[in-house]
Amino acid sequence: MARILLGVSGGIAAYKALELARLATREAHAVRVLMTEAAHRFVGAASFEGIVGAPVLTDEFERDPSRGAFPGDPAPEHDPIGHLEVVANADAYLVAPASANTLAKLAAGHADSMVTTSFLACSAPRLVAPAMNDRMYRDAATQANLRALRERGITVIEPEQGALASRGEHGVGRLPDPLRLLEAIEAVLPGPSGPWDGLRVLISAGGTREPIDPVRFIGNRSSGRMGMALAERAVARGAEVTLVAANVALPAPPGVRRVDVETAAELATALEAEFASTDVLLMAAAPADFRPSVSADSKIAREGSIELDLEPTEDILAGLGARRREGQTIVGFAAETPEHNADSSAARRGSAGLERAREKLERKGADAIVFNDVSRPEIGFESAENEVVIVEADGEHPVPLASKHSVADAILDRVEALRARSGERASE
Ligand code: CTP
Repeated sequence: MARILLGVSGGIAAYKALELARLATREAHAVRVLMTEAAHRFVGAASFEGIVGAPVLTDEFERDPSRGAFPGDPAPEHDPIGHLEVVANADAYLVAPASANTLAKLAAGHADSMVTTSFLACSAPRLVAPAMNDRMYRDAATQANLRALRERGITVIEPEQGALASRGEHGVGRLPDPLRLLEAIEAVLPGPSGPWDGLRVLISAGGTREPIDPVRFIGNRSSGRMGMALAERAVARGAEVTLVAANVALPAPPGVRRVDVETAAELATALEAEFASTDVLLMAAAPADFRPSVSADSKIAREGSIELDLEPTEDILAGLGARRREGQTIVGFAAETPEHNADSSAARRGSAGLERAREKLERKGADAIVFNDVSRPEIGFESAENEVVIVEADGEHPVPLASKHSVADAILDRVEALRARSGERASE
């Protein structure tokens, strides 16, 4: 149970904040709601007050009938300064929807309402969930404001693409589902201390692009979904997650530090810089195995045929595996497409793939290799589901077909087991 402060600013998506307040209350969180003047034009304070069981505050000079207490907590005997007391008691503060105007105020440090003043005074984790028309969202001013907020450690819950709340409007700027907003809040709450608490987890995701000329590249079909799912689940467990994303179009989960790269060489440099201070490496990216040995400076014209000379890239995982220090856990991934001959049974194909995965476990100095058969369309690159076998030195752990999030949890469970075992060995 946590004390969640919810700031609601003026936007059509404000109706989703009602659902968020309901979900959070149902999950036994104590919620207080602050609204901007503009928010009152979209939803009624009485609805929030009914749902959370506490008065809504709007004006920073208004007296708080609950004296800054959250539902379930005793109110202090004195009459404290409302905006300071309610925010001092909060475990997290989310502004959702955050309109373009409110974002601009938060980025500039304005303190002209309960929502903005409390934001400035808040020392608990702060989050904003922008929601607006796509042109307003994409405008350089809004983007600069979001950058400024991110740089100050504020979690920005990226808006989604699709139909916007206002009729007929389409694009990026849609407030995510209230359940996702609640997950984002829960991800930043200090959890009970466990094996993942503060663990530094480095995850690579996506597929690299090796330039042929300034407009063309050699790439692969990795979508980055598996790496994103791992990042989200690791944050939810309390880890400090750095995600090195190679050409991933998906937004990073809240609370994740993201480094974007393009080529295998850039991926190697970024991972090498992070590796020494990492406890767990999850190498879900698909780096290219070959790159053009020269990349043309200008676009190659369509004249006759051309030949590309390819040179091998470095094996990043093997390089990091060779430099590993005690206490580090390394997981590699092997996406295989076993030969599909008419006479080779599925079982035979599977075991050939497993053998290759086992060979990679050795060659790359990893503790586990997550093997999957990407030739099966239902568990391929773009799909939301996966079915894998986690290959370790002393056994195999099959994970049946499930969402990539469930598979991510199964992989993290194995990491936890491997670390517990190596911890026991170290203390023997
Ligand atoms: N990998 C890497 N650097 C590369 C290629 C792969 O670090 N240049 C990593 C992948 O991120 C993955 C693991 O190695 O975690 C296995 O990748 P895979 O492509 O299956 O292995 P390869 O060594 O490329 O073997 P092959 O292509 O012969 O199957």
